[in-house]
Amino acid sequence: VVLILDFGSQYTHLITRRIRQLRLCSFCLAAGSSLSSIQALRPAVIILSGGPHSVHEDGAPTLPEGFFQYTQDNGIYVLGICYGLQLIVKVLGGDVKQAESQEYGKMQIEATLGSKLYGDKECFKNQVVWMSHGDEAVKLPAGFRVVARSSQGNIAGIENTAIRVYGLQYHPEVTHSIFGIETLKHILFEVAALSADWSLQDILEEQVQLIKEMAGTEDHAICALSGGVDSTVAATLVYKAIGDRLHCVFVDNGLLRYKERERVMNMFSSDLHLPVTCVDASEQFLTKLKGVEDPEKKRKIIGSEFIAVFDEFSSKLAIELGRKPTFLVQGTLYPDVIESCPPPGSGKTLSHTIKSHHNVGGLPKDMKLKLLEPLKWLFKDEVRELGKLLQVPQGFLKRHPFPGPGLAVRILGDVTQGEALDTLRLADEIFISAIKEAGLYDEIWQAFAVYLPVKTVGVQGDRRTHSHAVALRAIVSEDGMTADWYHFNPTFLAEVSAKICNTVRGINRVVYDITSKPPSTVEWE
Ligand code: XMP
Repeated sequence: VVLILDFGSQYTHLITRRIRQLRLCSFCLAAGSSLSSIQALRPAVIILSGGPHSVHEDGAPTLPEGFFQYTQDNGIYVLGICYGLQLIVKVLGGDVKQAESQEYGKMQIEATLGSKLYGDKECFKNQVVWMSHGDEAVKLPAGFRVVARSSQGNIAGIENTAIRVYGLQYHPEVTHSIFGIETLKHILFEVAALSADWSLQDILEEQVQLIKEMAGTEDHAICALSGGVDSTVAATLVYKAIGDRLHCVFVDNGLLRYKERERVMNMFSSDLHLPVTCVDASEQFLTKLKGVEDPEKKRKIIGSEFIAVFDEFSSKLAIELGRKPTFLVQGTLYPDVIESCPPPGSGKTLSHTIKSHHNVGGLPKDMKLKLLEPLKWLFKDEVRELGKLLQVPQGFLKRHPFPGPGLAVRILGDVTQGEALDTLRLADEIFISAIKEAGLYDEIWQAFAVYLPVKTVGVQGDRRTHSHAVALRAIVSEDGMTADWYHFNPTFLAEVSAKICNTVRGINRVVYDITSKPPSTVEWE
């Protein structure tokens, strides 16, 4: 295991993913984790990440007592990156001070060939790297030597081969550091002599085996399938382990996209052979939403109706089976749990009882289900890869995200007003189909139409109309946290606009949303 101790850098997940891409098993632990939780993972290499703090700040995160004794006694390699390097220097008795000239962005460094950190690869000698720091190491602890300097003369790389401790003042994990990944590879494969043997196929087999052991021959599991990638891949994996003892429910809340229920159910049964019950609860949801305009109220109503439907499903199932299901399958991903949940020491921590604060959407506490979260150690791109191994159709794995509250957050105001839902479904389908036909679907993170409560005057077929407007939104993003609007060719937008106005009754105006996030959010409500 390559363990990354997270000191708060925005790049920590990136380091973890980069290392996994090198086919090495890597996990991340929050700074402040105890020495015993580090030991439990039996790491061969520990990377200390960068972070926003200064080592001199009160309460700045540090290493647990006895850290270096432990790494030395066990032959563990340590690599500090940026703050990680400064921490090494400070903890082992060197000096770190505020830099006179801060180094941000691309920098030239000169590395010492023949050092352990850089070996004798000529390409490392003069290289461009990505720096982002305000503090700098000025005096190294005993036994360390400088093996790289920036063009400003500052320390950029250090090593103490006797105790296997190394440090880089720059970020090798970002692509702006041209030979950064090569340097990481050198450290992991040449210096620490790890071998690349981690693969998603192994993870798949391990998880299936683990679920088989946990569920024995009797236990049943339930899963709410949303039609999204995460819950579908999680359910497919669990199905592989326990077959028909998995019971999935797909809830039609009346807020789904054009023909979504048919499309998704068809994929579940014909491509994945998953046992899925479709519950048509659209009347129930729409009745509760009638007249509600406040976005937060809408979300709350949808959340609690979902719980009611799910609860009823599991109670009925318990009567049918003559026993209560034991597990609840969730498609939770690694970024959701990194802060709150340590990675598996023994690999046996796959399940834990639901806590009331869990992000499962407030399922009733008395359900007493244990969570099965087989994707809990994976990033989104790895889940897509795993889905491929599980033969989930590729088109499905690349689907854009769709929010839980569905079209309710894309119809501003009362969801049940007139024909709003049907109108929006048609406009949205035209937009998405055009994006697919233009071959743009995979480069756009998310795209959709929004039904506006605004009526404007138009002229259609020589007649004056007074109809609704729709807004189109398309964004590019890494993770939905920040986003930029997608720059379509204007001809594309003109064609989509014409098609919507010509074919969707009740729409006479189309606008395109050119706001990024922030200041806007992705959804309009
Ligand atoms: P916002 O609108 O917050 O959206 O910028 C960011 C991403 O999250 C999705 N989203 C949701 N997903 N339940 C979900 O499962 C929700 O209540 C919800 N609200 C927003 C949104 O579609 C975008 O991908």
